[in-house]
Amino acid sequence: MIGRLEHLARRGLFLFDPEVAHGLSIKALKSGLVPSCAAPADPRLGQTVAGLVFPNPVGMAAGYDKNAEVPEALLKIGFGFTEIGTVTPRPQPGNAKPRLFRLVEDEAVINRLGFNNEGHGAALARLKACSREALIGVNIGANKDSADRIADYVTGIHTFHSVARYFTANISSPNTPGLRDLQARESLSALLSAVLAARDDEARKSGRKVPVFLKIAPDLTEEGMDDIAAEVLAHGLDGLIVSNTTLSREGLRDRRQADEAGGLSGKPLFEKSTVVLARMRRRVGPHLPIIGVGGVCSAETAAEKIRAGADLVQLYSCMVYEGPGLPGRIVRGLSALCEREKLASIRDIRDSRLDYWSGRNV
Ligand SMILES: Cc1cc2nc3c(=O)[nH]c(=O)nc-3n(C[C@H](O)[C@H](O)[C@H](O)COP(=O)(O)O)c2cc1C
Repeated sequence: MIGRLEHLARRGLFLFDPEVAHGLSIKALKSGLVPSCAAPADPRLGQTVAGLVFPNPVGMAAGYDKNAEVPEALLKIGFGFTEIGTVTPRPQPGNAKPRLFRLVEDEAVINRLGFNNEGHGAALARLKACSREALIGVNIGANKDSADRIADYVTGIHTFHSVARYFTANISSPNTPGLRDLQARESLSALLSAVLAARDDEARKSGRKVPVFLKIAPDLTEEGMDDIAAEVLAHGLDGLIVSNTTLSREGLRDRRQADEAGGLSGKPLFEKSTVVLARMRRRVGPHLPIIGVGGVCSAETAAEKIRAGADLVQLYSCMVYEGPGLPGRIVRGLSALCEREKLASIRDIRDSRLDYWSGRNV
């Protein structure tokens, strides 16, 4: 019955412009109208990553709840963790509309939102009202017209240190001109030094060290991946998130919308982001936490990210097509996989397909 209602609600949302539909889905979550389909707790899915205890490995990716309006509602529908943002110090409107497109045949999304958000102040006020136990990460970025982008990330660390369970430095959105240049070796080194110095400064004052992850693009050369891995290890960063949206348009069926500018996400991103995930796992070794994101639509695709080297996974686009029951279904499916394969922990499958994914050509 809930499945049928969910299907009807989703079809209804498709009648609206994608950005309007997104706003309605946030309103529905806020109102508590979305029934919880969370799976029962399963200790085999629990993970301690970067010192944080995750009840299950399936998280909501950044970009859905940019302004921290519904983090606790997302945890209630079955996500093990959620990431708010990207937030920038000052509010900004983002790019001109239309800027969000559904590619229904491909179960994909193209967005060129451009970090539309209400700024640090609004998100901070909302996060202060949340439980300190809630596993909420804060994804930080830079204003489009910032004179000093690195300073914007540093401000993010200082502003949210008391409420963030982890930080993500997002340097991989394709929709803020020049942002991805921060992935180049020298800029990345300067960014990581500044961000980690700010985090360490806050840790000294509060006695609480908040892990910092770096979110990277899937459109990297082998040399680009070498540079990022070297800098991440040299600076002692806490982990990687692989990956953001892609500029590639390969393999799309919906040619009508494929030429829209922006980042592509959803099912067509799965292969590419999983290959980059595995290649980064090879480069950074077995101990650095990695969150795999890009095209996770089912328990099987979530498990495949873990087999390719991920400790945790995140998703966004497939929820547009599968509805709010998706995190619960994935978590149940991962429990069933543990049962079938007699696993003591889902972690036991990590890296089991590292060779396959890191060797694959996309
Ligand atoms: C509409 C939209 C907005 C997004 N905004 C952000 C953002 O603000 N910050 C960020 O780090 N990633 C953002 N992302 C990227 C997602 O977090 C994720 O990395 C990407 O979509 C791949 O996952 P998916 O295929 O499950 O959607 C956005 C994605 C979409 C579809």
